[in-house]
Amino acid sequence: MNLKPAWLGAYPSGGVFLGKLIVRGNMPLKGQITISGSKNSILPIMAASIMSNEEVVLTGVPDLEDINVMAEALTTLGARIKREDDVLIIDSRSISSYEIPENISRKMRASNLVMGALLARFREAKVAYPGGCNIGSRPVDLHLKGFESLGYKVNAEAGFMEGKAVNIKGTEIMLDFPSVGATENIMMAASMVPGTTIIRNAAREPEIVDLQNFLNRMGAKVKGAGLDTIRIEGVKYLEGVQHTVIPDRIEAGTFMVAAVITRGEVCLNNVIVEHVQPVVAKLKEIGAEIYNCNAGIRVTGSRNLRAADIKTMPYPGFPTDMQPQIMALLSTVKGTSVVVETIFDNRFMHVQELRRMGADIKVEGRVAIIKGKKYLEGASVEATDLRAGAALVLAALSAVGESEITGVYHIDRGYEKLHIKLKNLGADIERIE
Ligand code: UD1
Repeated sequence: MNLKPAWLGAYPSGGVFLGKLIVRGNMPLKGQITISGSKNSILPIMAASIMSNEEVVLTGVPDLEDINVMAEALTTLGARIKREDDVLIIDSRSISSYEIPENISRKMRASNLVMGALLARFREAKVAYPGGCNIGSRPVDLHLKGFESLGYKVNAEAGFMEGKAVNIKGTEIMLDFPSVGATENIMMAASMVPGTTIIRNAAREPEIVDLQNFLNRMGAKVKGAGLDTIRIEGVKYLEGVQHTVIPDRIEAGTFMVAAVITRGEVCLNNVIVEHVQPVVAKLKEIGAEIYNCNAGIRVTGSRNLRAADIKTMPYPGFPTDMQPQIMALLSTVKGTSVVVETIFDNRFMHVQELRRMGADIKVEGRVAIIKGKKYLEGASVEATDLRAGAALVLAALSAVGESEITGVYHIDRGYEKLHIKLKNLGADIERIE
């Protein structure tokens, strides 16, 4: 394999891209598309790979800015990372620092996942606290309480969260909320703590199961991921392995909505049907036709779509990461829909941008009331976060006229070559750098 030299992450120091997307909408998307590896799976798995003192090979890795930032975080610690196409090789033998500085944490919240991995292998960690973000306050109290219960002395002052082993041993941890990140961080930390740890009210997302599979392949003893109780027997050593990441259920959901909102027909390959079931169920209720086919799923949007009510919930409920995209769709169907966001406290930033395109949406607290319009109209809008950006692209694809979407760097964090994939489905979309 012709591997590039050790790579320090391609994220520019300012983190600002001036690119924009120009979309001319109102055309049905048609064709086939292959879904990339899951962003939310690969991030904790990259962090977990430093728990081994041997080389880890990850395949099916999408080309995303968030992955560049995680690679930058790991190389800051001293790991060597090589990438060739969708293969990432992580060699953590040379790790010499246990600290993630603020300039990296600020770029991506998921850098906090490195803390559980560092504690597991080196028994100490210091990670700059990223603070809030565009979709809500996002505290890390559940992560820290979990580390404390395992016997780490935790200090969360002066912009850092720090942990150091004092009297570490397996324990029972009851999460107040099934937080995805806290479940992953505690799973990693507990995997190398002596004794048995039980996590109750654990998150059940497919990405937790992928992390369990990866850890177990390395030699960990984790059981129960995908259910609400996870049992971990601590081990002393983890070996280097090869692992292929699961497909991205949120990218799949986004393309399913793209088919429906443009009243087109798209075949999605590389999809785990069970993982997208909450989105499939809602799209069917709205009136889309969805069939399983050999390679994955075929989605068709009819002209007779109807309103639906949606409440975001932890998996297997409707994913918060699909809420902005489905809201774009509901803005274009007959009737009044109600969307309730229960996971994040500020995840309606896309509403004011959708309104610029003519959407009729009223927001009261965590509830949005959407009166569907026959058409949206092209406009200049700004992506304020990753999934808000996806929602605006979808709205623009269905709208009459031309739209200009700025803030494209948010979209680059989590969608691999989005405009190219859409172009291949017949969209009139252009990226201007
Ligand atoms: C992960 C996903 C993100 C998704 C989210 C919910 C990754 C990299 N990101 O984020 O795309 O939107 O799950 O499905 O996988 N909370 C606390 N205290 C904590 C931790 C969380 O109060 O210690 C709250 C958060 O503020 C939020 C809710 O719990 O309101 C859900 O957060 P969590 O499940 O932890 O999301 P993330 O792991 O950050």
